Amino acid sequence: MTTDEAAGTAGPLPFDTTKAHQARVYNYLLGGKDNYAADRAAMEASLKIYPELAFTARANRAFLGRAVSFLTAEAGIRQFLDIGTGIPTAGNTHEVAQAVAPETRVVYVDYDPIVLAHARALLTSGEAGATEYIEADLRDTSAILERAGELLDFSKPVAITLVAIMHAISDADDPHAIVARLLEAVPSGSYLALSHMARDLLDPDTLQNLEGIIDRTSQQALTYRTREQVARFFEGTDLVEPGLVRVEEWRPSAGTANAERSSLWCAVGRKS
Ligand SMILES: C[S@@+](CC[C@H](N)C(=O)[O-])C[C@H]1O[C@@H](n2cnc3c(N)ncnc32)[C@H](O)[C@@H]1O
Repeated sequence: MTTDEAAGTAGPLPFDTTKAHQARVYNYLLGGKDNYAADRAAMEASLKIYPELAFTARANRAFLGRAVSFLTAEAGIRQFLDIGTGIPTAGNTHEVAQAVAPETRVVYVDYDPIVLAHARALLTSGEAGATEYIEADLRDTSAILERAGELLDFSKPVAITLVAIMHAISDADDPHAIVARLLEAVPSGSYLALSHMARDLLDPDTLQNLEGIIDRTSQQALTYRTREQVARFFEGTDLVEPGLVRVEEWRPSAGTANAERSSLWCAVGRKS
């Protein structure tokens, strides 16, 4: 039994469609169909207060794609541990990575049963590579690392992607220690790609109203964090250019200019 299990905090999320949940609201914001009335109502209320939330979700997904492309094409990564996978949609990690390097192996992890129900779309690896799906709670790092080790070789560099998930981990669960444990398990030359809802990119009234909606409607609390708190996740890594920025500012594709601004910090760091 792991410490997390002993504390009774980790495990698959109960399937409750009467409350909004992160995987499904994100799917709604991205224009998907795998969501329920409670998810849509929570997001419609949030969009009234903060219309840029839809752009923020799209910009986050685009960051994931550019980060995976960079890691595969420029950093030479061939192994990914993608935790907080979300409901499969266009540009899943193995699709982006295997388009560059077909031999890439990807282990996906999520704790929402709705993601498990769609996991077949994540297991469509090309023959040269491989993918695996693990239903697990990020807080149970030992279980994740043990099962991921069946497909990934932890003596070689691994990219850990924690994209739009760490704000679902409360301070009480010590999110920085969770990331540190994951980084400890991978060798020097591995990477961390992470994005996070930003406390300091929202005006205080908008933030308070958004937090109020989440408290009233959601199955899961969210913790918005400051740039400094997000930077701490990257301790022990060297940030690749352009450092810690808004998601749409991280190595934007040529010719893209956004009138809107997101409220997510992100970075990619190389373990020293
Ligand atoms: C907003 S989605 C992000 C999806 C994808 N990473 C992306 O950026 O496009 C966040 C995902 O994290 C998952 N998640 C949240 N807390 C988790 C936890 N403690 N353990 C595992 N997965 C979690 C949710 O179920 C959801 O699918």
